[in-house]
Amino acid sequence: MYSALLVIIFSTNVYCATNNVCSTFKDYLTIKRNPNCWYDVAADQNATNIIKSNGYGVETHKVITPDGYIITLFRIINRFGDGRKVPVLLNHGFLFSGACFIGLGKKSLGFTLADAGYDVWLSNMRGTEYSAEHITLTADDPKFWDFNIDDIGFYDVPAQLTYISQINWNNGKIIYIGHSLGGTVALTYASALPQEARKFVKLFILLAPNGGFTHTNSIIIRAGVSFMGIVDNFTNNGPQTFLSTHGIATQSAKAFCLQSPVFMKACIHFLNYIIMGPQKNIDASIAPIFFNHFPGGSSLKVMKQIVDSARNGLRFYDYDLHNVELYGSLLPPAYNFSKIEVPVYIVYSTSDSSTTEADSEKLYNRLSWQAKRYGRYKITVEDFNHSDFVYGRSAQTILYNQLLELMETIRQI
Ligand SMILES: *[C@@H]1O[C@H](CO)[C@@H](O)[C@H](O)[C@H]1NC(C)=O
Ligand SMILES: *[C@@H]1O[C@H](CO)[C@@H](O)[C@H](O)[C@H]1NC(C)=O
Ligand SMILES: *[C@@H]1O[C@H](CO)[C@@H](O)[C@H](O)[C@H]1NC(C)=O
Ligand SMILES: *[C@@H]1O[C@H](CO)[C@@H](O)[C@H](O)[C@H]1NC(C)=O
Repeated sequence: MYSALLVIIFSTNVYCATNNVCSTFKDYLTIKRNPNCWYDVAADQNATNIIKSNGYGVETHKVITPDGYIITLFRIINRFGDGRKVPVLLNHGFLFSGACFIGLGKKSLGFTLADAGYDVWLSNMRGTEYSAEHITLTADDPKFWDFNIDDIGFYDVPAQLTYISQINWNNGKIIYIGHSLGGTVALTYASALPQEARKFVKLFILLAPNGGFTHTNSIIIRAGVSFMGIVDNFTNNGPQTFLSTHGIATQSAKAFCLQSPVFMKACIHFLNYIIMGPQKNIDASIAPIFFNHFPGGSSLKVMKQIVDSARNGLRFYDYDLHNVELYGSLLPPAYNFSKIEVPVYIVYSTSDSSTTEADSEKLYNRLSWQAKRYGRYKITVEDFNHSDFVYGRSAQTILYNQLLELMETIRQI
């Protein structure tokens, strides 16, 4: 059973703080009194405060997974909603958090959906800053970080879906939207538990999902594949809290990147170069919003499994010598995408370095005819990169409005 703690807050906060974002990196040098700079709550506050400041109510729900993790869900309450209230669960990518869906003000995916009358829930996977709790372990305990992608797909996803369907039980099944790793864990869940998925989910919308990264152009993932031995060793012997929100990697990345506009720009260029994709129209005003929540906390095993998916396609976690006792085979089995019964709508961009067209098409082709029934959507807009799916200022016109149309069609079925 899932237990819940519910906190409803309905007051709008107004922050009168100093400028924190500018339209160009150069403007940051004179940020205090520069007309091209302004205050953006998303670059400064936590998720609940960002939601409130945008004029919505927010509920914080806690869901306990069967293996004891306490997962936080944020629910966006639109007081002027027209009462359609079809539940939508948004799940984020690796090292992001639920906050990535509310970083663009009214043009964020979370608020776009809330304004259209959907009942919007933001997931925070285990290990992120908002879900760093467990019923018996603390986040300082190395055992807390002993989880992989399969665990998130088997435990976090169904716990959240079950919970949401109990709270909002009379508005039909849930629409699940996942970005990147948020799409991968949906594939884990829907291929391993196809019947259950069909009971809870009406449609999976996967934005730049990792369904196997064998054609990825991401330099960091490619490097990981070349040095798999080191990745393996570090996963087993390195500090398990390395990628936690309070870990060394996260804290130093944040401190370094937010130190000055020059560093901030360098960080974005570096990130785009190694993970995200092209950067011609780089948006300086997004950088502080991005780093306010990124990197958001995960485990080394999740990292290792992502690298493994670039080498061997998406498969269960590789336990090396223990594979035989766990899986009955020397190698971990591949995810069987053809088992998925719920429709899966894949969106990818030709400028995305991590999730490439080749891998997206491969994933699409491995789905059953039932799952493929709404086709897929290919974005060819120049330089629309891996992070633009959630942080692109033009994502609403390029993508979200399209999604609304599809969801509207499906809602009527
Ligand atoms: C956000 O910060 C406020 C204080 O400004 C705090 O009361 C609230 O619990 C925080 N929310 C989360 C999700 O941590
Ligand atoms: C793994 O790392 C440890 C030290 O952290 C080292 O002693 C060992 O030789 C490494 N093993 C491999 C296979 O690289
Ligand atoms: C690509 O991603 C970065 C974040 O890493 C973002 O700031 C930038 O604006 C994106 N898009 C383009 C077209 O450069
Ligand atoms: C994958 O699932 C399909 C449909 O259930 C089944 O026919 C096929 O044998 C499975 N493939 C593997 C490799 O298990």
